[in-house]
Amino acid sequence: MSLDNQKLKLYYNTALNLVMKCGPLMREGYEKAADNFKVKSDFYDLVTVYDKQIEDILIEGLQKEFPESKFIGEEESAISKREAELTDDPTWIIDPIDGTSNFIHKIPHCCISVGLAINKELVVGVVYNPIANELYSAYKGHGAYLNGQKIHVTNCANIRSAVVGYEISLIHAERVRDKNVKRLTKLASNSTSTRSMGSAALTLCYVAKGNFDCYHVEDLKSWDIAGGAVILREAGGVLLHTKGGEFNIMKPDLVCAATMDLAKDVMRLIEEANQITEYTIN
Ligand code: IPD
Ligand code: CA
Ligand code: CA
Repeated sequence: MSLDNQKLKLYYNTALNLVMKCGPLMREGYEKAADNFKVKSDFYDLVTVYDKQIEDILIEGLQKEFPESKFIGEEESAISKREAELTDDPTWIIDPIDGTSNFIHKIPHCCISVGLAINKELVVGVVYNPIANELYSAYKGHGAYLNGQKIHVTNCANIRSAVVGYEISLIHAERVRDKNVKRLTKLASNSTSTRSMGSAALTLCYVAKGNFDCYHVEDLKSWDIAGGAVILREAGGVLLHTKGGEFNIMKPDLVCAATMDLAKDVMRLIEEANQITEYTIN
């Protein structure tokens, strides 16, 4: 094992242990969150006291082990109001609770998500749902795991036989409503079934372990996607920019799929949806 690989494994194991350490706090929060949340920026953008507490534990722990680290954390970014910048330095991209609305409403589909980028490449991913006891993890070149068992995408190559993940709640925001309604209509009417889970990180993991065959989402943030992106790729999945180019974690508009053929089907339907002009939803 090369030194680089050893260091990578150290990053991975440290992140795994720290994320698992936050499990009891997240489980405690799950019981109490309904009384401990507030509205962040928009009426549908919710946050609890547990988001900041979990992010602080992760940042402190990682900083202590790896002083060379930089951080892009959802709650830190909200406080500093600074647009996050990704450099070549080892950078931990953290969503302390993804699926906050599920968390508050006691829907057991929420998680802690941590990704590590080095030289702007995503190399470590940990996504943990302590309510359902699901720990997804991966680091570059070593496959993806759920609770220690290897996971893999399906071999679905055709949208007609695909289960599609889509975030219906994106329709909240007026500026992206029209395109999402059109794209959802196209994808839902051409696939076997469509599911909306309310956690981008876990949806990527669902494609990684073969519950879903593909997922398309835009206008989210790096922290929603970073951890799950590594798990998806290491499980053999395809991850592309919506238009087919290289995926950019700092503007993570994406199509992910079990196979390249399926990704092409999804991109073709999105393009067809973009051409629809005859109706507009307000
Ligand atoms: C949200 C989830 C959700 C997506 C939202 C995100 P949060 O993150 O990933 O699936 O539809 O747009 O903001 O707020 O629960 O961390
Ligand atoms: Ca999120
Ligand atoms: Ca969050």
